[in-house]
Parts: sequence; structure tokens; C-alpha cells
Amino acid sequence: MDLDKYIIPVDDRLAQIMSDRFEEASDGIGCLRAMEYSLLAGGKHIRPVLLMMMCEMHGGTIDVALDAACAVEMMHAFSLIHDDLPCMDDDAMRRGRPSCHIVYGEADALLAGDGLENMAHGVIAESDISAEIKVELIKSLGRATHEMICGQSIDLLDTDDKYTFIDDLYRYKTCALIRASCEMGCICSGNKFDEDNIRDYAYHLGMAFQIIDDILDVTADEKTLGKPVHSDADHGKITYASLYGVERAEKMAELHTSQALEAAERMPNNADICRLTKELLSRDH
Ligand code: IPE
Ligand code: IPE
Ligand code: MG
Ligand code: MG
Ligand code: MG
Repeated sequence: MDLDKYIIPVDDRLAQIMSDRFEEASDGIGCLRAMEYSLLAGGKHIRPVLLMMMCEMHGGTIDVALDAACAVEMMHAFSLIHDDLPCMDDDAMRRGRPSCHIVYGEADALLAGDGLENMAHGVIAESDISAEIKVELIKSLGRATHEMICGQSIDLLDTDDKYTFIDDLYRYKTCALIRASCEMGCICSGNKFDEDNIRDYAYHLGMAFQIIDDILDVTADEKTLGKPVHSDADHGKITYASLYGVERAEKMAELHTSQALEAAERMPNNADICRLTKELLSRDH
């Protein structure tokens, strides 16, 4: 599915935001270069796409959702920079390039993550939208980021009974930011939306998304994936793929996708979101 009408404006706006920051600061600030390196490194942009699509579906425009979409991509980039650090997943490659800390060192990578997290809220605060909408956006993004960080902390636990709370772990580390993306798109539209249904959709899409990420760690090749393969097994991570095996994990991803689709079908103007939801199940990276 061609998503350029969403991705190109986001990338242009992100580049503009970063170049404004460079103008205000000295070129020598390493963490700024590290922020730009990770933020403008490609990636699927699934969270900003969801945000903008939800906004359109609920009667808004791509334009009105642009800053919020950039904010959620910044938050995601922050999570990936920290996720790759030696104290976390210790992965040296991301999106087909050396990870942020490999190029800029651990300290500037840490600061780049901090900088992006902070900038995400700043971009919403400075956006040309009503104060009421800004508050709702920051509430949604702030809560989800807190959950994502808690999920990352649970993910670090070295315990054999992790399987008892792996669903909670995924709900926090992955579904939360996907939920915020969907909620924020609806909020940007300025119109009413079915909050419970949006959350239900995001939970099931997020679960499928993370389970597929686990499967790809086992089945994909490094070039296509753009990040190290077998990283989870090499680091002793418990995932859906390691707990249940690839075949059963695939079935679980299918089940979550069909539950996400049921929720998507209850949304207005849902043709594109249904198509995207189905396509994400067979992604190869
Ligand atoms: C990777 O997210 C981290 C997970 C939550 C699985 P993405 O698969 O969306 O990463 P990019 O942005 O496309 O690189
Ligand atoms: C990361 O999950 C979830 C985040 C909040 C970043 P993973 O550790 O599986 O993501 P990848 O595989 O490194 O992209
Ligand atoms: Mg991780
Ligand atoms: Mg990782
Ligand atoms: Mg992974």
C-alpha cells in the first residue's frame, strides 16, 4: 500500500524541525547530530501513518495532524536509540545502518534519546492547534511513553517465569505507543471518536506487530530487516517466538490481526485502515 502521502510530509517536517534546532545551536553539539541521525534514518513510520490516517478517517486532515505525527515518530526514535544501547539490547545495527551509539558513542546516544523525548512534547506545545487539543495530545503521548518505558524495564528482567506476564510486557512496550498514535490522530480531528474501540484496535494491532517483530528476528535476513537477526536468542530474550515457536506465534499474530480488523471495521471510513492492518501481518521488515 502506498503510504507516501503520509510519510513524505512527516519526513520533510522532521528535517525542517531538526534544521531549525541546528540554526539555534552550534554544529558541534554531538547529541543534536545523533538525534538527526536516528530521526531521519527511514523506518516504516507506522505510528505517524496510523495517526494521520485516524485523523482523516474521523474528519480531519493530514495537515492538522502533521506535528503530532512528528512527535510520535520522535518518541519512537528515542525508544529505539535507548533500546539498542549496550545496557539494553546491545544491538549494533538499526534501519540498515550502525546504531546511534556506534556512531556517536553511548553518552551522546543517551542524550539524543532524552532530547527526542523532550522535543516530542515541545513540538506539540509549539504547534498551531488549539490549547485544548494540545493538552489532550500531551496527555495521551505522555501516558503511553511512561508505559513504554515501564515495558522496556520489564523486558530487562532476567526471570524464567516471564511468560506469565509477556502479554503485559508487550501491552506496555509496544501497544502503548501504537495506542497513543491512534488516539492522537482522532484527537487532532477535533471530532468525537469511540475511545474504547480505538484502544481495542491498537492493543490487538500492537500485539500482532510485536509478535511479528519477534518472528522476523528468527526468520528474516539481516539485509531485509535492517537490524541484527537472532538478537533475541543471542541475548537470552524470551519472546513469543521463543516461548511458543514460530508457527504458533504466527497463528497468534493472525488472531490478533483479525481482532484488530473487527475493531477497524467498526470505525468510520475504514477501507484504508483495514487494508493497512492486513498488510502489516505479512510485512518482511
Ligand atoms: C521496532 O519498531 C520496535 C518495535 C516496537 C517492534 P518498528 O518496526 O516500527 O521500527 P521502524 O521505525 O520501522 O524502524
Ligand atoms: C522494542 O522491542 C520495543 C521498544 C519499545 C523499542 P524490540 O527490542 O524487540 O525492538 P527491536 O527488535 O530492537 O526493533
Ligand atoms: Mg528491546
Ligand atoms: Mg531491541
Ligand atoms: Mg525485536
